[in-house]
Amino acid sequence: MNRRNFLQFLGVSGVLATLPSCSTNSALTPSGTSLPGLGTTLEDRLITADGLAYDVLVRWGDRINGTEKFGFNNDFIAFHPLASDRGLLWVNHEYVTPLFIKGNDRTKANVDQELLEVGGSIVEVKLEKGKWAFVPDSAYNRRLTGNTKIPFAGGRKVGGTTFALGTMGNCAGGKTPWGTFLTCEENYDIFWGDVDRKGKKTASWLAWDKHYPRNPQHYGWVVEVEPKTGAAKKLVSLGRCAHECAAVTKGKNGRVVAYTGDDSINEHLYKFISDSGDSLEQGKLYVANLEKGQWLSLDIADQPVLKEKFKDQTEILTYVREAAKLVGATPLDRPEDIEFDPLTGHVFVALTNNKVVKNFYGSILKIIEDNDDPASLTFKHETFLTGSGESFACPDNMVFDPKGNLWFTTDMAGTEMNKGPYEKLGNNGLFVFLRSGPNQGKIIRVASAPVDAEFTGPCFSPDYKTLFLSVQHPGETSPSLNKLTSHWPDGGVPKPSVVTLTGPLLDRIVEGKV
Ligand code: FEO
Ligand code: CA
Ligand code: CA
Repeated sequence: MNRRNFLQFLGVSGVLATLPSCSTNSALTPSGTSLPGLGTTLEDRLITADGLAYDVLVRWGDRINGTEKFGFNNDFIAFHPLASDRGLLWVNHEYVTPLFIKGNDRTKANVDQELLEVGGSIVEVKLEKGKWAFVPDSAYNRRLTGNTKIPFAGGRKVGGTTFALGTMGNCAGGKTPWGTFLTCEENYDIFWGDVDRKGKKTASWLAWDKHYPRNPQHYGWVVEVEPKTGAAKKLVSLGRCAHECAAVTKGKNGRVVAYTGDDSINEHLYKFISDSGDSLEQGKLYVANLEKGQWLSLDIADQPVLKEKFKDQTEILTYVREAAKLVGATPLDRPEDIEFDPLTGHVFVALTNNKVVKNFYGSILKIIEDNDDPASLTFKHETFLTGSGESFACPDNMVFDPKGNLWFTTDMAGTEMNKGPYEKLGNNGLFVFLRSGPNQGKIIRVASAPVDAEFTGPCFSPDYKTLFLSVQHPGETSPSLNKLTSHWPDGGVPKPSVVTLTGPLLDRIVEGKV
């Protein structure tokens, strides 16, 4: 019941060997270069490059108000400004490692606690002496959990009901032009299994369905959340799959456009074009065919093959993977995060890896919409960066700074780090592709994660002086509480936490001077 089982469940595991708990394999500065940045390491520490420092902002288990605690495995982070020195953070809590919650036994009491550890947190943060600090007991602090009642947007019925209980698998996300958060339900099948259109059920890794037989059709959606109230709705319009994220912009016609990837092997990249400029509820969903450079409609009115196979548009959206294949979508190497280049508007998609076709390192895909219009139905594409056994592997979350430097995190599985194709790459890291300045075109590693952890959810403060960053699943391959592979950050049981990164190196990169 750890990430190894999780990876086996997902069918994506490669080399399954236990990682040594603490060792180091190199000096931390690359030799023979004046570039700032780190070499590789296997140390159980969060290590930052010279000129960069971190502080823990909020940890798993921290009380956020009188009744609720910060959840487990923090992932995506979004910032909602309240004033120049105050803001709200949305933080995803993707999944649980039962060993660290109440134990591996699948008792009802254990599952009940796990349901409270997933979903998301809204927490207020305040700038104090130049550093962002968590504000405990802010009236805004609240949780969405595996039990929160969430309606389907627009009164739509899914699986016979107008609402779902809970959100989980919340991996990455996005923000809308009108300021709401989007949180994306990725691997919902680890909690509930899945069900096909004929009603055939598959097994779940965490076996929550043993005690709570919920409908898997209620999960795998993009969820929109109001920052100040926590009011949420599941956006049926964007389809149901293992959504990594949702990246929102506007077309030249003023309509909202949202890109979202399905992070599973050989799954697809989607684009939703709204009917309006201020809502994601009504519009058309498309899927990418890279060979033809076309966005293919998934609307029942446009596609006779869908009209023949599905009973209505809601069924298409609920089984959108099936529909995508019927219209000719291109299989991709696990689409993860999607971001827009601030200099060109091009759409960057992290393709983390595809071990089935022996792509261990992944790449970053660039989509160039025709006429530079996000609402275009045709596009060109090219590979922007490719991982390797010497540089970085498995790109996942990304964020651009205003100079167009691309900050990205890597997600090699804890069970595979320092082994086989990954043996020279050390722990997961935070990297920057330098877009301008004296080292234009080079990639530097600016932070290294503790053992088993990946960095997730990079998010700049509005002034770009701070990078909020999640440290997710430290120590996840620990076989027991007596044999922990990580003790980050406090020395005891490892705790997923959100940190702030600050310092002159960050400032210089953001100013384009590195
Ligand atoms: Fe939860 Fe696709 O990473
Ligand atoms: Ca991710
Ligand atoms: Ca990932």
